[in-house]
Amino acid sequence: MNGKSQRTEECAYDDGGRVVGVVLDDVVVVVGSEDAGGVAEPRQLILQGSNSGIGYDTAKALAASASYHVIMACRSAEKAAQALSEIQANSPNGSLSTIQLDVTDHASIYQAAKMVDEEFGRLDTLINNAGALLKSEGGLAEQMREAFEINTIGQVIMTEAFRPLLAKSKDARLIFLSSRLSSISLRLQRDHQSYNAPFASYRMSKAALNMWAACAAKEGKEQGIRVWTVDPGLVATNLGGNKEALKQMGAGSSEVSAQTILSIIEGRRDTDIGKLIHKDGVHPW
Ligand SMILES: NC(=O)c1ccc[n+]([C@@H]2O[C@H](COP(=O)([O-])OP(=O)(O)OC[C@H]3O[C@@H](n4cnc5c(N)ncnc54)[C@H](OP(=O)(O)O)[C@@H]3O)[C@@H](O)[C@H]2O)c1
Repeated sequence: MNGKSQRTEECAYDDGGRVVGVVLDDVVVVVGSEDAGGVAEPRQLILQGSNSGIGYDTAKALAASASYHVIMACRSAEKAAQALSEIQANSPNGSLSTIQLDVTDHASIYQAAKMVDEEFGRLDTLINNAGALLKSEGGLAEQMREAFEINTIGQVIMTEAFRPLLAKSKDARLIFLSSRLSSISLRLQRDHQSYNAPFASYRMSKAALNMWAACAAKEGKEQGIRVWTVDPGLVATNLGGNKEALKQMGAGSSEVSAQTILSIIEGRRDTDIGKLIHKDGVHPW
């Protein structure tokens, strides 16, 4: 639906000829909108990496509400199916489906976008969550290539592939999972808790992602696409392949990160559009 309507005596139609509402005293009342007292159509979301960690807990949190249809985008179809059946076992009110894509395989991204277009016709929220903290045996250049391939380039291509579908939403939200380690300002603060954390290639890949998010925020304005970049906090997930080590470093629960993402989707962080946010505020770039 693109908001344009064609009046007849009784019904309002979108450009595709679908009935979107009724005309009462020259005013179009949108059928199914909460304003009109009808049943709102669920928001369509794509959530990358929803088989693990923050993505999994976010899918679970979203599925609790009938307001959402979550498309779980994972690189492994088997892991996606397993995660979906675990979440569905809790009889969620929302609906879920899966789609296979690997952010380093750009053809798989465009194929997924085509499938979402054919099935849903629009996208309300894209959560670019997939990421990796790699421990390549190679030198810094090799580590950078690997990190940028997943954490940066893959997310740029995701944005480009799904932007036309987001542009069709009346409330388009684009969310990037970044990190406090991406902040150049915090990198130089000796008293910051992450000062001694190394991970130069990961830091650089996420800093570049932040710049892409800022570019997407600027470009998205014309299409009504609003953008947030999120530091989920230090949480114990499969990132880096050692959950126990993360716990020993004081990592918290990814359920808390999921709530931060939910707060964006539910409009509770609309004052922080275009910023690098965390659960309690905003980081400097
Ligand atoms: N955990 C933290 O403390 C922390 C802190 C700051 C930022 N973050 C960010 O939060 C995001 C989520 O990470 P997490 O902590 O939840 O880690 P995680 O448990 O390892 O989850 C990462 C997800 O990304 C997926 N993924 C990795 N490479 C992919 C690829 N090439 N194509 C598609 N999917 C891919 C993984 O799929 P597989 O299961 O198939 O590998 C997994 O589902 C990441 O962007 C991470 O950088 C995490």
